[in-house]
Amino acid sequence: MSLAIDSNTGRFDGDDPLFERIAGDIQSQGWSVIPNALPIALSSALLTQLQTPDDERFTPAGVGRSADHVLNPFVRRDEICWIEGRTAVERDWLNWSNSLRLHLNKRLFLGLFSFESHFAHYRPGAFYKKHVDAFKNQPFKDGTNRVLSVVAYFNPGWLPDDGGELVMYDESGVESVLSVTPAFGTLVVFLSEDVPHEVKPARRDRFSIAGWYRVNSSQLDLPR
Ligand code: OGA
Ligand code: MN
Repeated sequence: MSLAIDSNTGRFDGDDPLFERIAGDIQSQGWSVIPNALPIALSSALLTQLQTPDDERFTPAGVGRSADHVLNPFVRRDEICWIEGRTAVERDWLNWSNSLRLHLNKRLFLGLFSFESHFAHYRPGAFYKKHVDAFKNQPFKDGTNRVLSVVAYFNPGWLPDDGGELVMYDESGVESVLSVTPAFGTLVVFLSEDVPHEVKPARRDRFSIAGWYRVNSSQLDLPR
């Protein structure tokens, strides 16, 4: 087993038992929830960036895909900021996500070929109603579709009374399977089409990153 994380940058290199655990969980149950998952240097640096007041970068999040994308405050009230690698820590996050992508492709043959992610800020009262992140056989206009969703949390000292849980449901969307506290360092990974989920109203500022690995159209008909 090799664990090669640069503790200063969080930069990551090689196989990691964490990635192996995520692969095993996805294979056996379609989701994975891991406390203290991110390298501490990486999650701390991301938290520091999130705490730096730069509010104009965050804009209300929409619903739907490309052309049908609309603001719908009845569905979701979070504010988001896409991660494009502007800062060193954003690039570290993208490197880390890419290492996970490569590992999952190697282990599960998912054919994940790209990744997009955004910071999300739920102010007190904000929520995201039950939804799935992708629909079977309904790719985006560019022929890609989301296959795997990733969420990471940056909320030190989150208490049960603070709300804002991520509730995951079975495929029918009826039975709740798990309620996740958005605690600092917790990582959630799940199959985008198969796991309906919602964010309960937060009672204090709640920070996360949500990301999606995609396949392109030529891969969509292959068994995954
Ligand atoms: C999303 C989402 C979950 C969370 O952005 O699609 O479901 O816990 N986020 O922030
Ligand atoms: Mn979602």
